[in-house]
Amino acid sequence: MAEPNALPAPARERGRIAPVKLAHVVMRTSRYRKMVDWYKEVLEAESTYDNPMITFLTYDEEHHRIAIANMPALLPRPRFMAGVEHVAFTYPTLGDLLATFRRLAGVGIEPYWCINHGGTTSMYYADPDGNQVELQVDNFERAEDLNEFLYGPAFQTNQIGVDFDPLDLSRRHEAGESHAQLVRWIEIAPRGPETIPTAHLGRLHGLLVRIASRRRTRR
Ligand SMILES: [Fe+2]
Repeated sequence: MAEPNALPAPARERGRIAPVKLAHVVMRTSRYRKMVDWYKEVLEAESTYDNPMITFLTYDEEHHRIAIANMPALLPRPRFMAGVEHVAFTYPTLGDLLATFRRLAGVGIEPYWCINHGGTTSMYYADPDGNQVELQVDNFERAEDLNEFLYGPAFQTNQIGVDFDPLDLSRRHEAGESHAQLVRWIEIAPRGPETIPTAHLGRLHGLLVRIASRRRTRR
């Protein structure tokens, strides 16, 4: 098995002129108000500017982390198309992630997929247009420990992760189980892309995966 790569120093420390941050994500939509309200609710964001065409939202020191652009008559984006897979937001603690899960469930916003990816404990939500938003917490404190996990045997057999029940995780967290216990990787059978829920990749994905695997077995 390959040895873990040494983590690269940040580009600027390597003497390169590189961006200092990933600034923002802009969504275009024909469901303008619904999208603005959804991102405000999910991210506890506030508007820094809005007019009937564009809304800038932030939940931290950046002027806008998310912008929503109002464009009429856009076509819905089919699932399983090339492009952005999802946008992920990290919480500082599992407690914050689970509190957010409970808060959102209280207003009818439920994750469609909860999975421990090994490196992160993640909850996937779909915005009103079906764009996928991952709310997550890092399972490891240090990037070196994550890298070691990625090069270890567990990740070689299952690169997708282990699904979990968020209510159960929430109950265990409230009962006082530690972060380490709650995010512990559980060995399961090898997992392929066909086990990714239809809600994540769409029905077409399942069909294409079945066709591809039939071709492989015929060869
Ligand atoms: Fe992610």
